[in-house]
Amino acid sequence: MTSYTDKGEKPLRGRFVKFHHVTFWVGNAKQAAVFYCDKLGFEPLAYKGLETGSRNVVSHVVRQDKILFVFESALNPGNEEMGEHLVKHGDSVKDVAFQVEDCDFLVQKAKERGAMIVKEPWVEQDAYGKVKYAVVQTYGDTTHTFIEYLGPYKGLFLPGYKEPLFKDPSLSKMPPGCLNFIDHIVGNQPDHKMEPVSDWYQKCLLFHRFWSIDDSQLHTQYSSLRSVVVTNYEETIKMPINEPAQGKRKSQIQEYVDYNGGAGVQHIALNTSNIIEAIINLRARGLDFLSAPDTYYDSLRQKLKTAKIKVKEDLDKLQELKILVDFDDKGYLLQIFTKPVQDRPTLFLEVIQRHNHFGFGAGNFQSLFEAIEKDQDARGNLTILTPNAESKPFY
Ligand SMILES: [Fe+2]
Repeated sequence: MTSYTDKGEKPLRGRFVKFHHVTFWVGNAKQAAVFYCDKLGFEPLAYKGLETGSRNVVSHVVRQDKILFVFESALNPGNEEMGEHLVKHGDSVKDVAFQVEDCDFLVQKAKERGAMIVKEPWVEQDAYGKVKYAVVQTYGDTTHTFIEYLGPYKGLFLPGYKEPLFKDPSLSKMPPGCLNFIDHIVGNQPDHKMEPVSDWYQKCLLFHRFWSIDDSQLHTQYSSLRSVVVTNYEETIKMPINEPAQGKRKSQIQEYVDYNGGAGVQHIALNTSNIIEAIINLRARGLDFLSAPDTYYDSLRQKLKTAKIKVKEDLDKLQELKILVDFDDKGYLLQIFTKPVQDRPTLFLEVIQRHNHFGFGAGNFQSLFEAIEKDQDARGNLTILTPNAESKPFY
């Protein structure tokens, strides 16, 4: 594992402030939004659709504290762009939006350095304020929207959005999700694409490397991966980039790439300040998580005996809830992963709480991967790789 301390030079102009929102392109935005509200504790925030004059695309915006998710679907037959995206990727993340300062400058610089600009800067406004946008292409069919507020924006979400058509009264009766902000968003790449993608962030957006791990450190009995985390100068936006590495059987990253039809967002990590309450509540709401085996907690207890840090939370409780722990000499993190949130084994979510620890749970990758591989095997995808790297089913 390598941590990088060199942030590079501070950019002269322009700034990436934070994750703004994530846009999902799905088959049925109304129902997808309900899943995130019911299972994860989001609430409807804003809406755009036929009733608001949006004739082609419907958008349901849901919010939980600082986390904003937008679910979009095509309204009319024959929408080729959204239709093809759906055929190829299934329900998936289309765009990760960043709040920025000096959008024009950032787009100009990204373009000079070779980025593909999907949409040049434009301005939208309504009675509540004015916002500048631009869209840049990143890995796979994923894009980044840059959002610059041209003065304070007083509306619900962004210009053009109105009140949700319906607010389910049962949501306020359920235990809160306790999720606060987007901690990191991970992109899976096909083989040998991790380096070019992390180079793209460094070159075009002036991000720097924050952390990396290679396959000699990150593998199970069957499969392995490599990962690099890139981040903006202020280190408020963290984007780990994964790729599969050669193992005895098909890597879970390769399974993702096969089912997603190429690169895409693998997981979104949501930060909480109280993971025990969050997971008790999310389990009560019916959200399904991956399970670490009890042997994981036996070895954790052993390792913690000689650790320099002390985990404040009750280990029995963490074990009961299947929350994972990773630590170093200075701090620790608690994390847990959901099962895929759609039928394809592609996107899933993570809940994470940090105690002076800025890693991504490398110490847990082994048990996480073993848990994923168990499910991967049940899906018939933990295939044995032949010498010429073709795969055949394991069973
Ligand atoms: Fe993560």
